Amino acid sequence: MIMLWALTALLAQPATLDFDYYTANVEPIFLQKKAGFTRCVVCHADGGGVSFLQELSPDADTWTAEQSRLNFDAVSRLVTPGAPNTSRLLLHPLEPDAGGDEFHNGGRQFASRDDPWFTTIEGWVLGETGK
Ligand code: HEC
Repeated sequence: MIMLWALTALLAQPATLDFDYYTANVEPIFLQKKAGFTRCVVCHADGGGVSFLQELSPDADTWTAEQSRLNFDAVSRLVTPGAPNTSRLLLHPLEPDAGGDEFHNGGRQFASRDDPWFTTIEGWVLGETGK
């Protein structure tokens, strides 16, 4: 049994979170407006307890490369590489009927597991790479 466990652990390649995929696909989500909802950046870049994004500079409509690095580090802490089902970034804004958390102050912005924002972030968590 122990041997089998060791073998399984050896074969399971841990997913790594790709920075290029993140900047090209995941980070833009935080800036986009979905009808009926407030943009993630409005609530998650104010330096408060649930901030995981850098505050945008006045007049900037996106982050600098350096800010993206800091965002990447913070956002990475909200997911478990290789495990979408224990990744808060995916579950917190997800509709409870689809397995999401009961309450999110920012609303149920991922209507289902087929929601493009959900699948994009899920791909990142599962180790997709590139732009
Ligand atoms: C109206 C403000 C608001 C918006 C918009 C918003 N959130 Fe939130 N979010 C909160 C607040 C407040 C909390 C902490 C309380 C709670 O769980 O609701 C939170 C919690 C979270 C958490 C859990 C953080 C942790 O450290 O446990 C995640 C992940 C999250 N939000 C992701 C998002 C994403 C992704 C978006 C955009 C799709 C988004 N939020 C939009 C207000 C918002």
